[in-house]
Amino acid sequence: MEQSFIMIKPDGVQRGLVGDIISRFENKGFSLKGLKLVSVDRAFAEKHYADLSARPFFNALVQYIISGPVVAMVWEGKSVVATGRKIIGATNPSDSAPGTIRGDFAIEMGRNVIHGSDAVESAAREIALWFPEGVVGWTSSLHPWVYEK
Ligand code: GTP
Ligand code: MG
Repeated sequence: MEQSFIMIKPDGVQRGLVGDIISRFENKGFSLKGLKLVSVDRAFAEKHYADLSARPFFNALVQYIISGPVVAMVWEGKSVVATGRKIIGATNPSDSAPGTIRGDFAIEMGRNVIHGSDAVESAAREIALWFPEGVVGWTSSLHPWVYEK
């Protein structure tokens, strides 16, 4: 089934939002397949956000991501990439709807609490980057209560 890479950024960890954010994905019905608290260095953050290296905010973005530990996760479920982005909300918290993570917890673009893969292909790239050891294979016993078949 489809997987997405979701990362709680350093501000989300520092502000004690980890439990609330995990609950939102769990409550939706998605399954947690990988989870770790890590501090990454500059080279690693630059690799993760390589697509944005030409943007004027790139250095600030990298500095933000390496400013403290992050929670790296792999979530699995039907359409988890697109639905995960909806749960997260628009990039700019000024535009994120209330009820989304960024809409509820953030004010500025450079402190927007959480990352989510933007496509199935980028999810595969990011999961390979962050979890080279692989993730855990398991099926929730709630599966028939979340999925029709
Ligand atoms: P991620 O899930 O973190 O990848 O965010 P996104 O997919 O919603 O947006 P995008 O990939 O375009 O940008 C990555 C991150 O860079 C954003 O989440 C912001 O933290 C930051 N960012 C993007 N655009 C701007 C900008 O115009 N100014 C600033 N300061 N930061 C930006
Ligand atoms: Mg992005």
